[in-house]
Amino acid sequence: MSSNRVRIAVVGVGGMGAAHLRFLKEIKEAETVAVVDVDAGMAAKRGAEFGVPGFTSIAAMAAAARPQAVSVATPHPAHLPAALEALRLGLHVFCEKPLCSLVGEADRMIAAARRHRRILGEMFQYRAQTPALRAKEVVAAGRLGRLLRVNMVHVGRAPRSTTTSAPGAGPGPARAAGCCSTSARTTSTCSRG
Ligand SMILES: NC(=O)c1ccc[n+]([C@@H]2O[C@H](COP(=O)([O-])OP(=O)(O)OC[C@H]3O[C@@H](n4cnc5c(N)ncnc54)[C@H](O)[C@@H]3O)[C@@H](O)[C@H]2O)c1
Repeated sequence: MSSNRVRIAVVGVGGMGAAHLRFLKEIKEAETVAVVDVDAGMAAKRGAEFGVPGFTSIAAMAAAARPQAVSVATPHPAHLPAALEALRLGLHVFCEKPLCSLVGEADRMIAAARRHRRILGEMFQYRAQTPALRAKEVVAAGRLGRLLRVNMVHVGRAPRSTTTSAPGAGPGPARAAGCCSTSARTTSTCSRG
């Protein structure tokens, strides 16, 4: 174990969780120490694939693997309980988008992060991609004048998990809050001021 690398566990290791595991391998400041999934078979499978132990609960994983942070990639209705549990255990939380289903849930997550003095971050990968970076440069340079309106179009396929919701969890957050648009890979049309 290297002491200057952040010890991270990935919670929810389906499609996106596997992507987190792959990308974490490329980050030299990070060390993946465990995976968690409610599906024991999935936890074991991903654990074997990435050479780390698999667990079915955050508490058991935290006690055994001693991570400093978790990367949460469960379906969105499970983001709130996973984040609250991890924060309660003193772990920093990086969470897939949408952060949660309802604004009130986001408020609870933010309050818990402040109370436990831990960092809560949401996945916004499109902000780091070329179209968004170029658009930011163009706007910051003032080349478009004062913006009055920006139209953004997210080009791509949204997985079912982002656009629907578990029974009783409220409307699909993509429809309710435009989560994809806020972090979108965009084409934008800007009105001049
Ligand atoms: N950033 C992006 O571009 C992007 C793209 C796709 C999905 N997502 C987000 O990633 C998240 C996961 O989506 P996915 O497509 O990988 O889903 P998925 O169904 O492929 O995987 C989810 C995994 O979480 C596990 N799980 C469910 N409840 C759990 C819990 N309480 N604790 C631990 N594990 C649990 C499931 O067993 C499953 O293995 C969603 O929030 C989705 O919106 C983001």
